[in-house]
Amino acid sequence: MEPSVPDHFERMWADLAPVGRSSSSGGYFRQPFTTPERELAAWFAEQAAARSLRLEADPFGNLVAWWDVPIVPDEMAADPADFRPSDRGLSLPGVVTGSHLDSVLDGGAYDGPLGVVSALAAVDRLRERGFRPSRPIGVSVFAEEEGSRFGLACLGSRLATGATTWSQARALRDRHGVRLEEAMATAGLEVDDPQPWLDASRVECFVELHVEQGRDLVDRGRAVGVASRIWPHGRYRIDITGEPNHAGTTRMEDRKDPMLTYAMTALAANKQARVAGQRATFGRVETTPNSTNSVPSAVTAWMDARCESEEALADLVATITRQAEERAERDGTSLTVTAESVSGAVDFAPDLAARIAGEHEGGDWPFIPTQAGHDAGILSMQRIPSAMVFVRNPTGVSHSPAEHAEIADCLAGVDALAETLERLAR
Ligand code: GLV
Ligand code: MN
Ligand code: MN
Repeated sequence: MEPSVPDHFERMWADLAPVGRSSSSGGYFRQPFTTPERELAAWFAEQAAARSLRLEADPFGNLVAWWDVPIVPDEMAADPADFRPSDRGLSLPGVVTGSHLDSVLDGGAYDGPLGVVSALAAVDRLRERGFRPSRPIGVSVFAEEEGSRFGLACLGSRLATGATTWSQARALRDRHGVRLEEAMATAGLEVDDPQPWLDASRVECFVELHVEQGRDLVDRGRAVGVASRIWPHGRYRIDITGEPNHAGTTRMEDRKDPMLTYAMTALAANKQARVAGQRATFGRVETTPNSTNSVPSAVTAWMDARCESEEALADLVATITRQAEERAERDGTSLTVTAESVSGAVDFAPDLAARIAGEHEGGDWPFIPTQAGHDAGILSMQRIPSAMVFVRNPTGVSHSPAEHAEIADCLAGVDALAETLERLAR
């Protein structure tokens, strides 16, 4: 007997479970262009081949597995053997669905992979039903969505769509100083004159299924929802320099301690974000020379800030910067703030979202906003109509080994995605 779609889903999920998993925390380390992430890319290529999907791999590490629906021109119709489905221009723009396989450091299993596995399972569901799409369906995997290695969120989709150019990106380095280009070359990716290629002429619309990263669906008692918008967000590197000195012999009043400036900045960010009803987080800090019995010479910290509107984000970052500078003045330290990755507000195409959300058994799927960034936001900003389907997360926890979704909800997500693709590619 042929395996059913739930079996396919569970087998794929079991394939992925051990890859890049920490034996101590149970979380995932699937940073771009590292062995675990390359293993996942190879796994995806195998899944595409097993379904006879045509794999398109770009120089940035992005992948799209195409269920081709070629338009056979009249002059070729007589001899369809002449037709090469990969010929550009001989196909309608496709309906693309997918997500990413990279993770944050010590991340959960679902953020990214759920969208990829669900997309493959949705293709299986459509084929099981005998559905014949009238336009191509693509299953995508975007590289370095999390920006966990090179600091720029959604790097793969930015490069594929031209939102970031290769000349801007090639200067990026990871925390060990490895240049993006070197990391790609080590992974066997040819980065010779790479050009953006993903635009509305290739993609009619993009739908990303994702585990919800909050508790909105839990509170509503619903398994599936549709994204309405993404809050604007950014990552800001704060470099503080002081005066290295002895931890014992230097009187407290004689110090120029960058750690104090950092500590007060972290407290100020928390307070300002709370007061304004927004978000600010310091999740990464480096101190030099990182010595217990020394006043440090420098501290670099990264602030992640997210707000309801672009004005609120600009205000929040400006207020925190002002308070940090005032504190640096008092501490005798110096401070600079550099925006490393900023993503504007995304309002998903309302007609596409409404088409996806409307008229289901049990009522329309609810619209929910998100404070998390996604490749769907980048494609949307690059004028590719995009939408997101969220799957309930019982705790709301994400970017953590505790991230979870129940299998029944995951399968409801697969059905929701299959239904969506059927509507869009009919
Ligand atoms: C990506 O998940 C982000 O929102 O940082
Ligand atoms: Mn994600
Ligand atoms: Mn994420």
